[in-house]
Amino acid sequence: MKILITGATGLVGQHLVTHLLSEGHEINFLTSRRKAIDSLPNCSGFYWDIEKQIIDTSCIDGVTKIIHLAGASVSKRWNTSYKKEIIESRVASSKLLYQTLKNYTHEVTQFICASAIGIYKHSYSTVYNEDSRVFSEGFLGEVVQKWEASASVFSDISVKVVKVRIGVVLTKKGGALQKMKQPITMGFGASLGSGKQYMSWIHIEDLVKFFSFLITKNKEGVFNAVAPNPVTNSELTKILAKKSKKPLLLPNIPKFILKLLLGEMHEIVCESQNVSSNKIKGFRFQYEKLDEALTDLL
Ligand SMILES: NC(=O)c1ccc[n+]([C@@H]2O[C@H](COP(=O)([O-])OP(=O)(O)OC[C@H]3O[C@@H](n4cnc5c(N)ncnc54)[C@H](OP(=O)(O)O)[C@@H]3O)[C@@H](O)[C@H]2O)c1
Repeated sequence: MKILITGATGLVGQHLVTHLLSEGHEINFLTSRRKAIDSLPNCSGFYWDIEKQIIDTSCIDGVTKIIHLAGASVSKRWNTSYKKEIIESRVASSKLLYQTLKNYTHEVTQFICASAIGIYKHSYSTVYNEDSRVFSEGFLGEVVQKWEASASVFSDISVKVVKVRIGVVLTKKGGALQKMKQPITMGFGASLGSGKQYMSWIHIEDLVKFFSFLITKNKEGVFNAVAPNPVTNSELTKILAKKSKKPLLLPNIPKFILKLLLGEMHEIVCESQNVSSNKIKGFRFQYEKLDEALTDLL
């Protein structure tokens, strides 16, 4: 199959490209940086400027599936203009892809849009499945709801829409694991806030196979991409410290300190989402438990 990927140069995208190439797929990708057009071996790069709504439309030639990952990082300091960029980079990019399919001849049958478990409202007790309509009222909740709405319109042009609510992605290099590991390896590890908040995570290898599964099974609808066993922040901190062979000496970092340090962004680390992966029948996770995932990654 020929697959068009946006955000292919990012953390998830690079792993996904490697995996899909290994399965024999052909990859086109869209990048917002001209100099990145030749950056991914064995793939064809195309330029787009989301703000100006410019796209090299030859990117869709022969393509039957689109995977839309592009979006400004949510883990950079939020201010009013950057918050706008976080939303626009996702919504305006979906719109540009939609207009392209609407106005040009194409063979695209499935649009798979990244989303995030940040859509679910903070709760220590609820286990969220894809049918839940209890959405977060925080900034991340707003981002994800607008992002998902921007994906829904593809069904108007007879393209199957899949929304993948991704949990915290664990990788060997970069991403959340690196950030969580750093203070622990330096001997300053501590649980965050109450420590009771659930973190629903997924190993990068399972995530890329998850995308591949959605493509080959031609799925449609909303799917949570999380491992079957979420952990609380305290459990995660303990497991990480054990794996890093470091003691945990400090008390929990109170939420008000996190608010002072991170501003509104503290919601990323303090909000709790216990998310179920039961819907995706037939998909086998290689890493079901955090301990197994970290043994592989650390
Ligand atoms: N990593 C996680 O734990 C996680 C969890 C839940 C959801 N997600 C979502 O999954 C997607 C992929 O995640 P990731 O970790 O791979 O993200 P990433 O490493 O930040 O990469 C995102 C890609 O989006 C493009 N991009 C960045 N800023 C942009 C902007 N202002 N306008 C247009 N394009 C822009 C970039 O590609 P070019 O520079 O080539 O254009 C970049 O490589 C993201 O949308 C993210 O929000 C990730």
